[in-house]
Amino acid sequence: MSSLIIVVLVLNLLHILFSTVSVRSDQSVLPIRSFKVRENATYDCVDINNQPGLGHRLLQNHTIQMKPSVSIHELRNHIDNNKSYSSEIGCPDGTVPILRISNEYNTKAQLFSEKYFHPLTVDNPGAHIVGIRSSTGPYRGVEASYNGYTQYIEKDQASYSEIYIGSWLNNQVNYIQAGYIINPSFFGTGQLWTYGYFKGKDGKGCYNTACDGFIQVSRKIPIVQPININPGDSDWSRWSIHQDKATGNWWLTQLIENAPNVDIGYWPKELFNILNNGANIVGVGGVVQASHNGSSPPMGNGNFPVGSHKNSAMFTNIEVLDYNYISHKMNYFPTEILVDSPQCYDIRIGKVKLFHSKRLGFFFNYGGPGGKFCGV
Ligand SMILES: *[C@@H]1O[C@H](CO)[C@@H](O)[C@H](O)[C@H]1NC(C)=O
Ligand SMILES: *[C@@H]1O[C@H](CO)[C@@H](O)[C@H](O)[C@H]1NC(C)=O
Ligand SMILES: *[C@@H]1O[C@H](CO)[C@@H](O)[C@H](O)[C@H]1NC(C)=O
Ligand SMILES: *[C@@H]1O[C@H](CO)[C@@H](O)[C@H](O)[C@H]1NC(C)=O
Repeated sequence: MSSLIIVVLVLNLLHILFSTVSVRSDQSVLPIRSFKVRENATYDCVDINNQPGLGHRLLQNHTIQMKPSVSIHELRNHIDNNKSYSSEIGCPDGTVPILRISNEYNTKAQLFSEKYFHPLTVDNPGAHIVGIRSSTGPYRGVEASYNGYTQYIEKDQASYSEIYIGSWLNNQVNYIQAGYIINPSFFGTGQLWTYGYFKGKDGKGCYNTACDGFIQVSRKIPIVQPININPGDSDWSRWSIHQDKATGNWWLTQLIENAPNVDIGYWPKELFNILNNGANIVGVGGVVQASHNGSSPPMGNGNFPVGSHKNSAMFTNIEVLDYNYISHKMNYFPTEILVDSPQCYDIRIGKVKLFHSKRLGFFFNYGGPGGKFCGV
């Protein structure tokens, strides 16, 4: 019990030390500290045990897992190092950064979740997909390096670059995806953001920490972050989604070059009913959602995958964890190439050796300009 008292004292002390205290309208708890990283991006440091994700009815009895039982480094035999990663955000111990969003955007996010198309089936009007998928699971995870670009996207369009895992059985779908997103109706701006999304057992889903389900554990890297890049430039990241060996929870990890990996957080196993023994499907690629009038946004950087590999968006070093947690290049497994609207978006599987010193792995270029005639 004494440790509890100390925690309370420390929290109170921190509360006094940091003056930037504000109140979330929909929350009774005062954040200990807040970080405003952009015009429309403010994070409140929220008590890790009182974060929105835990509000899910399936997580009543959930105990927070602070780190993976086996790190992705150990699973993959990577060499970690001790350089630290600098972040604009650094919440005090015992708290995690949660993006503050207005009720208006929260409602929009929920509506978007309801109708959101997912890459396991291509049945949503106006959604188009390009990518690679393997459906001979069970798999324990997927990992890739990929880039995100800023693009002009209309208010009712969206464009994603994502890795995903999922299972599909008797009309039930469970899945998780993460990567880059541009979705103005969702964020209020046409900026590029990082994101994560899940659809669980009850058919309901949620983006990021806008509603319940995802458990944020990193104090520095929130699941949803605005990316500051100039038009034409791209932001590279390497992410992994993998199932914890001991708990069965699904971790989202950012693998940062020359710094230790950051385990951002996880989707608890309680949220799912057909992912407990791995996922049947893993995939990576681009997804877009057209306007109501059928006009489709650009995918990737808007260029078709022609010419130099630097001309269009890319996924590289795509690795998949098999049922026994052995890592393989994705093309070790049977793969399908997904292209549903080749007049608007295409893919080119890599054949050249790109980086002389680095292991290339399995890669591809993809994307396209979109337009009015991409089909439905
Ligand atoms: C912030 O969001 C508002 C809409 O809520 C928008 O009008 C404004 O342009 C946004 N600011 C930035 C910097 O994106
Ligand atoms: C939580 O535990 C209680 C008591 O054991 C049980 O009645 C309840 O069903 C559990 N809730 C969930 C979501 O598992
Ligand atoms: C960090 O790594 C460097 C070598 O890369 C080593 O010299 C140094 O002692 C290490 N520091 C710690 C705190 O482990
Ligand atoms: C479709 O709607 C977008 C706005 O969402 C608009 O920019 C575009 O001109 C419209 N296209 C047609 C053919 O009406």
